[in-house]
This record gives sequence, structure tokens and C-alpha cells, in this order.
Amino acid sequence: MPSILINGVWNIDYIVSNRLLATFLPVFLLKKCRMDKFVGRLLVVVLLISPFIVNAQKHGAYKGIHSGVLWFDDRGKPLSAHGANIVKEKETYYLFGEKHSDSSNAFVGFTCYSSKDLYNWKFESIALPTQQSGKLGPNRVGERPKVMKCSKTGEFIMYMHADTLGYVDQFVGYATSNSITGPYTFRGPLLFEGKPIRKWDMGAFQDQDGAGYVLLHGGDIYRLSDDYKSIVEHVHKANVPGFESPTIFRKDSIYYFLGSHLTSWERNDNDYYTATSLKGPWTKRGLFCPPGTLTWNSQCTFVLPVSGSKDTTFMYMGDRWAFPMQESAATYVWQPLTISGTSMSIPRFLDAWKIDMVTGESKLVGLPEEVIENANQKRISYSGNWKHTNDSLSLSSSDIKGDSFSIKFKGRQIALYGLSRPDGGYAQIDLRNKKGKLVFSGLVDTYCKYPIVSLEYITPVLKKDDYTLTLTVKGEHGNWSDKRKNLFGSTGNVVSLDKILISP
Ligand code: GAL
Repeated sequence: MPSILINGVWNIDYIVSNRLLATFLPVFLLKKCRMDKFVGRLLVVVLLISPFIVNAQKHGAYKGIHSGVLWFDDRGKPLSAHGANIVKEKETYYLFGEKHSDSSNAFVGFTCYSSKDLYNWKFESIALPTQQSGKLGPNRVGERPKVMKCSKTGEFIMYMHADTLGYVDQFVGYATSNSITGPYTFRGPLLFEGKPIRKWDMGAFQDQDGAGYVLLHGGDIYRLSDDYKSIVEHVHKANVPGFESPTIFRKDSIYYFLGSHLTSWERNDNDYYTATSLKGPWTKRGLFCPPGTLTWNSQCTFVLPVSGSKDTTFMYMGDRWAFPMQESAATYVWQPLTISGTSMSIPRFLDAWKIDMVTGESKLVGLPEEVIENANQKRISYSGNWKHTNDSLSLSSSDIKGDSFSIKFKGRQIALYGLSRPDGGYAQIDLRNKKGKLVFSGLVDTYCKYPIVSLEYITPVLKKDDYTLTLTVKGEHGNWSDKRKNLFGSTGNVVSLDKILISP
């Protein structure tokens, strides 16, 4: 089978139909038309790869992992999979997460996507949809799905936090499936001594010996039964205030336990602990990102080890929530962890990187090369009341609904850098082809309590062509209150541009 990937996945249909065509057509032509052997061989190759070229151009393919920006899936739609985890099965990575809607926080299902490289994702299924009624029925909350393959039975088990919209009926639930992509069957609460565990944020961890664990906010750890369908032991009793989105991974003989503070959808400086046994004692190690960066504007959810011939990269996975526009604008912060003994950190924020799937090493990835500064009004056409400032940083900013800028370019990929800020608002970004057809459309949230100039938008690599990108200021921003009615969110609607990058 030819070794060509489309958006990181094999396209068997194309391979099969094209192989037939590629095998028989040249043989036919060679015989009937006395075609030159070299031309015949060339035709085989061209026929084999042509559908891949066409298909790869349809929605493009990324070259690496970009944090804090929308990711478009194989359908060209923004990926919605938050509070996620990743399971590797037969050389494919499966991502499970919360699907969201922009209109309410009610459970709308858990999604499943697949990838070979961790940055080109194919939509697989709604692995667990909203149930007709009951604890994950309409107008309930379903969060933080974590899937593990039971080492004894081979069954796939999904754990989640189920609750009311007001977060007053929380418990850890579970669902089962014989196929990794589902559909999963919701089984209700996971029981310990006959009772549900009435806590909210949860995580899951599978140890090297195949034992499964469920983790709870505050730092509690519970060991699962052999079939992963109930709890048999309260392994570690903790009472750390907050410590939400609990996440454990293991490197050699050290366990690392990550958690956030309790600030609802707002990001905070997450902490970590280490131990040589899940039972503890756990030693508090403090922050793993530079203080004040609010964990590079994210909340932890999972750490994925990716091992190869030379190294293992431990990939931190976090959420950058965008309440209330959680479906359209919430993004992901995935970064390689630097680990040495009990010390663990994300010292720098990488805009573009990847893991070499053969060696397991993490590597930087290039961004589009041509730089167009925000002040270049020959290339960028601004409409409305944009302010162009040039103090420590050159920026073009507006907070007025309907203000826009657009840029026409010939190339394959476009990216925007801007200032994410405490008074940041939403921007609508549309990319159209030369016929005016919408190629990608997305909502970008430029709110960050910790201000940072960073990548705010990037398309996959597309067919080289003429495109127009338009950004429109929405004149709106996100606000919300937490379970204790504290207010959070942006103080303004500002959208700002630092520079545009284009790949010719
Ligand atoms: C966070 C929690 C999220 C969600 C949110 C609701 O603290 O980690 O999973 O429950 O609160 O406000």
C-alpha cells in the first residue's frame, strides 16, 4: 500500500479504487498503445497519488501543533473536544473531549477524533451523545471524559463528571463500548462501597501494570476494579482546596500530579506534586509554568507520553476556555514538558512544534515565512476606526463592532499574530478563495487575563491559490460567574493585529 497520509489518516477508499485504476490502466495503455515503459511507470505513480493531492487540498493539512488557536478538522470545522484525553490504539491516537455549544453549558455529547500525528484530526463520532433522559439527558452537565482500555477485558471505558446545570448533583459516571470510537453506552454512577462518588472535576490514569485509577478534585485517588466498572480502593485521601482538573502521569518511578485552582472557566497558575507511590506521600513542587502566565493561559486536563526510538515526549494538554462561545472559540494549549527528576516545567510557550513519531523527540516547526507588519496599509486594507499605535509594540486595534481589515494574497497558508489581553473581544475571521467561496470561518477570542502577543489564527496548508482573509470586530466579549457567583471575563471588546504571516 502506498505510504501517503491525508490529514494524518489513511484513506483506504482512495487507495483501493485508485490501485485498481493504476494497475489496469497503464497495462492497458502499454499493450494497446505500445507506451514507453518509463511513461507507463510514471503514470502509475501519478495515478496513485493524484487523489491524495486533490483530497489533501480540500481542507489542507497542518505541519505542527499550534496552541491557543482554532484547529480545523478533516471536515474544515473547528475541533470541539475539551477536558480531553488521548488513547493510543493500533498506531492511531484517539482524542475524546467535551463537545460544546455557544448557547448554554448543557451536555451536547462527547466527541472522538483520530490522528496519526497529533495535529491533523479526523472527526470520528459523537462517542456518547446526549441521552434521551436521566443523568446525562437534556439540560444536564457532562464534563471531562476520560477513556481507558481495560487491560483485563479489552473493553473501552469512558469516565466523566455528570451534574445538573447548577452543579449540585455531581458524580463520576461511566460508559462502555467494545469499539474505541463508540457508540458508548452510559451505565450511570461509578460505585465505591455501593455509593457514587459525589465530586465534580475528575481525571483518569492507567499505570504500567494495567491498573486503572480515577482522580478527583482535591487530590483523591481511587483504584478501579479489574473490569474498570467499580472502585475497590480509596488509594489516596487528600483535601487540597480546589485542585481541579486532576491529571497524573508517570515517568520512570516518579508520579506527577497536576491540578488547577478553583476559578471556573478562568485560567490560573496550576500546581503539581510528585510521589514515588500513588498512595503518597505527595510533595508539593509548586508551579510548572512561569508565575503569572496562568499556565500559559490554560487549565490542565491530561498528559500524553509519546515514546520513540530516542526519547519520550510528555505532552501537556490544557484548555483555554472561551465561555460562553465554548464551541466556536475555546482552544487548546498543548506543549512539551521539560522533566528532570522531580522538576517539571513548560519554560517557553511554543507557537509551532511537533513530536517525531519515529524518535519520540519534540521539534520546532516553521511558521509561514513572509511577514506583513500591521502598519503595511499597502497590503492590509483597514475599514472603520482602527488605531495604529507604535510604542513598545506596533499594533492596529479596534473595539468597534463591524470594523474590519482584509488582505488578499497568493499562497498556501496564513497566520495572524495579535495581543491577547484582559480587555480582548471576539473577532470573526473568514477566508475566501478567488471565487468568493468560504474556505474557513471561525470565531477568535482575544481575551487573556495574562496579556501576551501570540499566534491567534492559522489555517492548515492549502492549495496554492488566491485567497482573501477578512477579520471583523464583533464588538462582544465573554463574561461569566462561577459556582460561587464570582464574576470573571473580559472588560472590553478590543481586537488587535501585530502582524500577518503568509506562506507563498
Ligand atoms: C471549572 C472546571 C470545569 C467546569 C467549570 C465550570 O473549574 O474545571 O470543568 O466545571 O469549572 O464553571
